[in-house]
Amino acid sequence: MTQPLYAIPGAPAATPAAAPPAVAAAPARTVAEVLQASQVEAVLDELERDLVGLAPVKQRIRDIAALLVIDKLRLNLGLASQMPSLHMSFTGNPGTGKTTVALRMAEILHRLAYVRKGHLVAVTRDDLVGQYIGHTAPKTREVLKKAMGGVLFIDEAYYLYRPENERDYGQEAIEILLQVMENQRDDLVVIFAGYGDRMETFFRSNPGLSSRIAHHLDFPDYSRDELLKIGDSMLAGMNYRFGDDARAAFAEYLALRIAQPHFANARSVRNALDRMRLRQASRLFAERERELTRDDLTTLLPADIRASRVFGTPSA
Ligand SMILES: Nc1ncnc2c1ncn2[C@@H]1O[C@H](COP(=O)(O)OP(=O)(O)OP(=O)(O)O)[C@@H](O)[C@H]1O
Ligand SMILES: [Mg+2]
Repeated sequence: MTQPLYAIPGAPAATPAAAPPAVAAAPARTVAEVLQASQVEAVLDELERDLVGLAPVKQRIRDIAALLVIDKLRLNLGLASQMPSLHMSFTGNPGTGKTTVALRMAEILHRLAYVRKGHLVAVTRDDLVGQYIGHTAPKTREVLKKAMGGVLFIDEAYYLYRPENERDYGQEAIEILLQVMENQRDDLVVIFAGYGDRMETFFRSNPGLSSRIAHHLDFPDYSRDELLKIGDSMLAGMNYRFGDDARAAFAEYLALRIAQPHFANARSVRNALDRMRLRQASRLFAERERELTRDDLTTLLPADIRASRVFGTPSA
């Protein structure tokens, strides 16, 4: 092998395949060289900019990136010989950004050349576990094949383990995963995701899995203020905005909604905004002859928000 094991990638994925190799043959010796060659800071900055809140998660990701950059420099000086274990768990309530952050993580791992392709394959129990004897192994292996060179994201991972069934096929999937996590960790990173307390029980029942997970990231619930900002940024992304008093109405909406069952953080914000956009559309639709301005078409009014049944009014 002429290249070091973790040759620094030439450039981010966007570079056409035909481009000449951008990196000099000399292995990197400084953090700056690794950052420059991998462009990983751009992803970290994006993460910082695009995602509201999540300060502890962002910090952990910066720490992991630092570890990987230093590991690369150690490798280049022959100080590291083994691929670091990069399997992770993301725990947190619904809608706290686990899937979103997993996608960014895949990108970071790719830019630092810890995975070849950087794609993310998101699955749940049903994708891995079969209904009948003999069906699970081929299903799991098929998923693993798709995920090779990238990140396998297993959502609600605790459903893999069903102790109440004497011989649950989920156990078979876990055993195959364990093997691959150990033997092919230079080509696949597995992220186990799910809600906090259930994940804890799952890991306690599967110490073999738990011990192979290097990084546990905990996603906190968003505060109402953060949810408001998430709302602003989602609206801006869709070319909408809160009109006068509408943002205040939405803040009130959130205070009520948070206390209700099935509240799902940023996911509930997205769903609420979708319904509010529907109401805005119905409102405008009724004004057949009026010329609709840019302002009309982009602005949510308090009425679009207050018609929600969360306020106790009979509407969707
Ligand atoms: N910090 C944030 N800033 C802006 N948008 C966010 C943030 N967190 C989540 N979102 C948005 O909220 C939605 C739900 O996020 P995501 O699917 O990542 O959550 P999740 O934790 O995977 O949820 P679930 O457990 O329900 O799968 C997405 O549309 C995402 O873009
Ligand atoms: Mg998700």
